[in-house]
Amino acid sequence: MHLHVVDHPLAAMALTVLRDERTPRDRFRPALHDLATMLVYEATRALPVMPVTVTTPLATTAGTRLAAEPVVAPVLRAGLGMLPAALALLPTAHTAFIGLARDETTHQPTAYLESVPDDLAGHPVFLLDPMLATGGSALHCLRLLLDRGARGITVVAVVAAPEGLVALESGLPADAAAELTVVAAAVDERLNDTAYIVPGLGDAGDRIFGLM
Ligand code: URA
Repeated sequence: MHLHVVDHPLAAMALTVLRDERTPRDRFRPALHDLATMLVYEATRALPVMPVTVTTPLATTAGTRLAAEPVVAPVLRAGLGMLPAALALLPTAHTAFIGLARDETTHQPTAYLESVPDDLAGHPVFLLDPMLATGGSALHCLRLLLDRGARGITVVAVVAAPEGLVALESGLPADAAAELTVVAAAVDERLNDTAYIVPGLGDAGDRIFGLM
């Protein structure tokens, strides 16, 4: 597994806004959008490209376009908060939706939506989930994406827990684990006894969408 922790002052500032318990939803969402933009920018650094020619008002010169259409897969709910930033940077991307509910007793994910293309072979895939906590949700999604032919998947997270990173490394077939990339703004200390990341930022879905 390749772990890339984005080390940038603007990312650190946005993460601080997200962590702050006083940040209201109307400031949380734009900060998440800004941070997701930076994370996706880093996550797409090695995207395969192909050369094209482009004609400027003055001359013809070399240009670039993506070699394959990417797929972005937000994990519902919280991954939706990162989707607009990902699609702004990757306007030709396909979107695959994976809906997971977390059982608050077992902390295991249950899928209620899997809207994923049948054949992902040859497409760079980016799994969007702000919180990589136990790794249970990410593992469920990664297995689904691997079953559909995805290779070299990138998980884009805001905060990762060490336990989640270990779970991904040990829970995937060795070749898939070796090809996996995780891009995050921070690796935090630990999970607490209810599987929340500490210090983390709380429940990302609730902070994005509210909880009445
Ligand atoms: N999901 C969240 O939203 N926050 C955590 O800390 C862990 C899982």
